[in-house]
Amino acid sequence: MAAILRGNPTDDQWFKVVPMKVGVARETAPGERRVALVPEALGKLQAAGLEILVEAGAGAGASIPDQAYADGGASIVSADELYRQAEVVLRVQKPSTKEVERLHEGQVVVGLLAPLIDPQLAATLAGKGVTAISLDMLPRTLSRAQAMDALSSQANVGGYKAVLIAANAFGRYFPLLTTAAGTAKPANVLILGIGVAGLQAIGTARRLGAVVKSYDVRAETKEQAESLGATFIVLKSVADASGEGGYARQLTPDEQKAQQDELNGHIAAQDVVITTAQVPGRRPPLLVTAAAVGAMKAGSVIVDMAASALGGNVELSRPGETLVTDNGVTIIAPDNLPATMPTGASAFYARNIGTLLLHFVKDGALAFDLDDEIQAGTVITRGGKVIHPATQKLLEPAPAGAPGGASA
Ligand code: NAI
Repeated sequence: MAAILRGNPTDDQWFKVVPMKVGVARETAPGERRVALVPEALGKLQAAGLEILVEAGAGAGASIPDQAYADGGASIVSADELYRQAEVVLRVQKPSTKEVERLHEGQVVVGLLAPLIDPQLAATLAGKGVTAISLDMLPRTLSRAQAMDALSSQANVGGYKAVLIAANAFGRYFPLLTTAAGTAKPANVLILGIGVAGLQAIGTARRLGAVVKSYDVRAETKEQAESLGATFIVLKSVADASGEGGYARQLTPDEQKAQQDELNGHIAAQDVVITTAQVPGRRPPLLVTAAAVGAMKAGSVIVDMAASALGGNVELSRPGETLVTDNGVTIIAPDNLPATMPTGASAFYARNIGTLLLHFVKDGALAFDLDDEIQAGTVITRGGKVIHPATQKLLEPAPAGAPGGASA
């Protein structure tokens, strides 16, 4: 147990050992049922000298009662108390406007803060003197960061759930079944994008007995897909498009068109298509055109995991909506899949955020060292400033004459 001397030296009690208080906020985003810490994750943090406060009801969406946290040694507090007392606030999603108002100078907030999508939030937190640490900015290729990789753990849940949603919407069996009443053919499933979510989707669809094909622009994914029992589609039109940090690069418009045209033939033959393709910081690539959907059989199902306000992998998908086309194809674009499996997703997330927090803790308090790659990647605001270079760049005023910039 770390002993730290903190408090006001003019106070008689200033030498008292005061553990740093870490608060677990209740998520308030619509449909969000995850929670940042689960009771099983408390022990390691307490062993590092931290005191845990949990906002009443924080675990309810993930079926974790307050009592389970209390049994683990946490104090259950109101939202007012949490935001007043906690030196570090742990959360899953970024804070709402109301929650930002509650944060105060010197506090630290840790979560999936999406600074590249919402840089303005970072600017607001910096303006309030709040330190923001964002799990989604973790340098993921560092092997020592793997246990902190919330993007991977949550994508894993998403890939699994996408297959279950597809199987549920599909009017036939996934496996080959021979029964006295006849034989059911196995479903043909195509997974587009073989990152973390795609690999889990391949594994899940195979476990359900489907015949699985897959495709990705990164050539290295062929072996990974095949090791899970999927056939890998090699397109003649697009060679390897591996980018930096293990991600794909954005294709040129010509490459995109050639890719879509060549994929069309494969898509038409499928019963189920699950798309997971992303390019960091860009609109997700359009892989399934309206024409490709038009050529699919009635009863086919598409799940677009990449659908967002920017657009998705499927031309017709709309985030959060399910639609059935005139030719009878169901297109599902689920919102926040990890939140639909909140207990499992929270258990993984708690491991990620707890490990990241402990990476910052020295002698029971946070120790900042921005020469450390993990800290440099994840600390977005500090000392009243946005210090994360990619976020800073987004906040720079557009040059005069540029769209949205100041006119000359
Ligand atoms: P992601 O969510 O950014 O993208 C999903 C997949 O879409 C990627 O495999 C990407 O290649 C693919 N994609 C992009 N454009 C495409 C297109 N036009 N057509 C077809 N597919 C396309 O990726 P995710 O899942 O977050 O991570 C991707 C990879 O990053 C991992 O598979 C791994 O190689 C690397 N990574 C490495 C880690 C490590 O070394 N510890 C940890 C996490 C990721």
